[in-house]
Amino acid sequence: MTILVSGATGQFGSLVVADLIKRGLGGQLAVSVRKPERAGALKDQGVDVRQGDFDDPASLARAFAGVERLLLVSTTDDNETRIRQHKTAIEAARAAGVKFIAYTSIVNAGQNPLVLAEVHRATEAAILASGIPYAFLRNNWYLENELGFVQAALAGAALRTSAGQGRVGWALRADYALAAAAVMATGGHENKTYELCGAPATYDELGAALGQALGRPVAVEHINDAAYAESLAGSGLPAFLVPVFADMATKIREGALDKTSSDFQKLIGRPAKPLTEAVAQLVNQVQKR
Ligand SMILES: NC(=O)c1ccc[n+]([C@@H]2O[C@H](COP(=O)([O-])OP(=O)(O)OC[C@H]3O[C@@H](n4cnc5c(N)ncnc54)[C@H](OP(=O)(O)O)[C@@H]3O)[C@@H](O)[C@H]2O)c1
Repeated sequence: MTILVSGATGQFGSLVVADLIKRGLGGQLAVSVRKPERAGALKDQGVDVRQGDFDDPASLARAFAGVERLLLVSTTDDNETRIRQHKTAIEAARAAGVKFIAYTSIVNAGQNPLVLAEVHRATEAAILASGIPYAFLRNNWYLENELGFVQAALAGAALRTSAGQGRVGWALRADYALAAAAVMATGGHENKTYELCGAPATYDELGAALGQALGRPVAVEHINDAAYAESLAGSGLPAFLVPVFADMATKIREGALDKTSSDFQKLIGRPAKPLTEAVAQLVNQVQKR
């Protein structure tokens, strides 16, 4: 049985692959990457490295040949491009006779009001339409999305947000990756939807966790949407991303990522790492760089 992971030279995909190798599945593992020369270490470990680009259907026909179980890792681009890329990959999987697709979606994909959730709704719909048995891995927010706040706290600055008392089910990327690896490595996940969430917490609680990790208080400054958009514009973020990030904070305030679920426990045998522990780990990583 061949298991294939796309995006395997990305941060998430590489963690999934590492766990699958750890589980002894390296011999039946293939990866699809845009630049095989960046996957030399995987090749050295016996992984079948294939070239595949979701913008190039012919490359996917080759990459997905003989694959039974596919982990489709969502790509990074504007919504229209990602939807097109994902549909191309799903069609290539169908044509190759893939028997199971797990897809990295977003929490509450059906009703999630975030602009980026449109990609995941469209992709889930395309997978359902393909008729291929599936698992939707509806990931909540990566704690790593808040690296800017970790850096601000390390520099002694306040966390400035317009997300108010909105709660987020943060978890470390590594925990989402363990859940994905569990779904790829074990049976019984056909046509299941997993809402993968850490215990929901506010930005005040994130600030408190950062304060605990740093051993000094970290201030959280609550600002309105306009002031937040202004601060994003001055942060060096590309201009087209400013409204996207501003929208996220507004929707988080309105509850877009506030979800409680025990699906991590089901897949990895424990809940996501608690916020204080996860934040301490992230601070440690940033300090080591
Ligand atoms: N829920 C959340 O909070 C959250 C946060 C961040 C990201 N995400 C999603 O999770 C995904 C994985 O996250 P990450 O941290 O691993 O991000 P990342 O390190 O930026 O990886 C993005 C991956 O997308 C792949 N990709 C981009 N364009 C592609 C294309 N045309 N064809 C094939 N593959 C393509 C890249 O492939 P190569 O390896 O070949 O370059 C890379 O592996 C992201 O792409 C994004 O959709 C979710």
